[in-house]
Amino acid sequence: MSGVRITLKLATSLDGRIALADGSSQWITSSASRARAHELRAAHDAVMVGAGTVMADDPLLTARTIPLPARQPVRIVADSRGRTPLHSKLMTSVNVAPVVIATAGDPAGQLASAGARVWRCGNGVRMNVQDFVRRAEAEGIRTILLEGGSQLAASFVREGLVHELAWFRAPILIGGEGLSALGELGLTDLKSATRWRPVATERIGDDVLDTYVRTEQ
Ligand SMILES: NC(=O)c1ccc[n+]([C@@H]2O[C@H](COP(=O)([O-])OP(=O)(O)OC[C@H]3O[C@@H](n4cnc5c(N)ncnc54)[C@H](OP(=O)(O)O)[C@@H]3O)[C@@H](O)[C@H]2O)c1
Repeated sequence: MSGVRITLKLATSLDGRIALADGSSQWITSSASRARAHELRAAHDAVMVGAGTVMADDPLLTARTIPLPARQPVRIVADSRGRTPLHSKLMTSVNVAPVVIATAGDPAGQLASAGARVWRCGNGVRMNVQDFVRRAEAEGIRTILLEGGSQLAASFVREGLVHELAWFRAPILIGGEGLSALGELGLTDLKSATRWRPVATERIGDDVLDTYVRTEQ
């Protein structure tokens, strides 16, 4: 059992979509929910997204609370081939908070020269999530807020590495053409579905934040 506690944060419509078909997602939940999400970032050692989210949204991933936290979380991108743009908000703010590029063996030399820390996590086509968690633990990271997108979130859930869900829901419907919160989990029967126990519900204006913890199987 890993010593790294991973919370998957989702910001979805009522029908569990994280983006429109064209990929736009940044304003699904309200500004009050987004402020709450910044508090969650501040409460974790690291925040993490997939390369797809970096390409679609160019997120900064800092914790912008009032007042600012004493220490910014480490910002991590699962980026097997090191394709995070040098001009991205992440890479142009390496002096504000550390950036880690977790690769699948790609040396990502340009990103390292530009100030990112590069962690080689496996030698496959994709960054290996188990290797990643081992490395994070060795680097002293105890808590990670995993912010998606759907493919990366599914990889962590499939491997049983997510302990908690922080699920913001906005009272809108996006429909089946929107991007589902989770990519494929490969389930063949309901008995093997991960089960979650609700532990808290917060109303944030018209949005809701539900927190769940994984039940032992
Ligand atoms: N509303 C929300 O809460 C929210 C949050 C985040 C994102 N989004 C939206 O979600 C969309 C992006 O989601 P996405 O599913 O396309 O991309 P994603 O999950 O952010 O990133 C997927 C990419 O991550 C890299 N990756 C590295 N290791 C991986 C692993 N072990 N498993 C899976 N992926 C791995 C892969 O690229 P390489 O092979 O190149 O490494 C893969 O293509 C955007 O539209 C964004 O706006 C919404």
